[in-house]
Amino acid sequence: MNDQDKQAIHERYQEEKEHGVKFYPDIIYKDAIASFAIFILLVGLAVFVGVAKEPAADPSDTSYVPRPEWYFLFLFEMLKFFPGQIEFVGTAIIPGIAILLLFLLPLIDRRIKRHPRSRPVATLTMSAVVVGIVALTIRAVITTPAQPETVGATHKEQVAAGQKLFEEQCAKCHGQTGEGGEVKDVEGLTGTFLNAINSDDYLFTRTDETTYNVVDYGQPGLGMPAFGLANGGQFNNQQINAVVAFVRSWDSRIVVEEEAGPAAALAPGEIPDYEKHVAPLLKRRCSACHREGVAKNNYVVSSYQGVMTSGDHAPDVVGGDLNSNLILMINRQKIEAGGPMPPTKALAPQEMDIITRWVQAGALPVRAETPALTATVTLTGTPRATGTVTSTITPGTPHVTGTVTSTVTPGTPHATGTVTSTVVPGTPKP
Ligand code: HEC
Ligand code: HEC
Repeated sequence: MNDQDKQAIHERYQEEKEHGVKFYPDIIYKDAIASFAIFILLVGLAVFVGVAKEPAADPSDTSYVPRPEWYFLFLFEMLKFFPGQIEFVGTAIIPGIAILLLFLLPLIDRRIKRHPRSRPVATLTMSAVVVGIVALTIRAVITTPAQPETVGATHKEQVAAGQKLFEEQCAKCHGQTGEGGEVKDVEGLTGTFLNAINSDDYLFTRTDETTYNVVDYGQPGLGMPAFGLANGGQFNNQQINAVVAFVRSWDSRIVVEEEAGPAAALAPGEIPDYEKHVAPLLKRRCSACHREGVAKNNYVVSSYQGVMTSGDHAPDVVGGDLNSNLILMINRQKIEAGGPMPPTKALAPQEMDIITRWVQAGALPVRAETPALTATVTLTGTPRATGTVTSTITPGTPHVTGTVTSTVTPGTPHATGTVTSTVVPGTPKP
């Protein structure tokens, strides 16, 4: 800097100082306005635009492609030029030097001219840096592999996606619905007999995690290929999950909530039917531990017979007896036969209601629409009225309210006709 320059700067400085703006409050005021505007803009973006949603973080997902935000992509891309041991050049040395240069800039560049054209070295350097950043960013965007598509947001969509994948990839060996059987037309496996994977035997004894791992890693020794990307297959985690969801959809215990809703509550006074109300409930909530093969205390609920007669403490259900083992146990009591059932989670109130009313009404295999009763009375002795009266009691609920229709079979002349009697409610159970 020569004296003339110094002189010029000094003059300008004095001039500005006299009628220029003050840092406080003038500049601060402007800053405050600008910061506030940016703050409002950010709030607006956050409220109205938001951030694109990605699937929830899943540490076990090997197919997720992690990438920094766009403004750091160039740094990330630069790392690719410094692989392995020399990575620190990209992560520390180059950015470090750049920042150091920025700090030292006032000391390095003391030229008075400020117009870019008067400062070719600085202008060129900065332009080169900007071009480099843009180029690296573009390169990073181009080379980023597509994020795997989300496979179905709802359970239903997942199962549908899983079914499609299953039909494409698995059905040729396992059959369209996992029924197994003899493999046809698959190199190396033709003639092999595969176990069903849609059976209770498979589904009740394997967790989803097991199925997931079988699909992910395969069973190389047995001829089951690996499907996980990490194991040379073509399914990402979401696809495997979809297939697993489809396999699980065969599980007869599972009733998808959106389809079934909670077990329908009974109408007031309605007597539950074993097949319609009770059996599905026992299957869903109890058969995991009480079926053939896996019967805790030898109690099997897969058939009416089993419910009524099996078990180490049989009978666990006695018609009409609300102190039956099963009733006490679902009411979460601990009795000699065992603890609360199901052990982990109480039945829903409407489920308890179904079982309770069923037992109360006699725990019958078929709904106790009072069985039709037939009575035959033979009329004798009265003149002109000999013959047989057959009465049929039409089933009513509960117990025996209903209508009795009696027909007098013609015996003698003058005495044919129909007698209709009504059974008064309150008659004891037949
Ligand atoms: C090339 C034929 C083939 C294909 C394709 C195939 N599997 Fe398998 N899979 C097998 C064989 C063989 C076994 C082992 C024998 C067995 O368990 O019956 C097996 C075993 C399994 C098992 C374990 C069965 C058990 O009883 O433990 C599951 C679960 C399974 N496969 C699911 C799938 C799914 C899901 C797909 C599609 C993504 C698939 N498999 C595709 C041949 C195949
Ligand atoms: C997670 C497994 C599991 C589930 C689910 C389960 N139980 Fe049990 N149950 C057991 C075990 C274990 C016992 C043996 C007694 C004990 O350990 O409490 C048992 C015993 C019983 C017994 C006694 C049988 C006897 O004669 O000794 C009855 C009755 C019973 N359970 C009914 C039910 C009913 C009803 C359900 C469904 C609402 C159910 N359980 C669900 C595990 C289960």
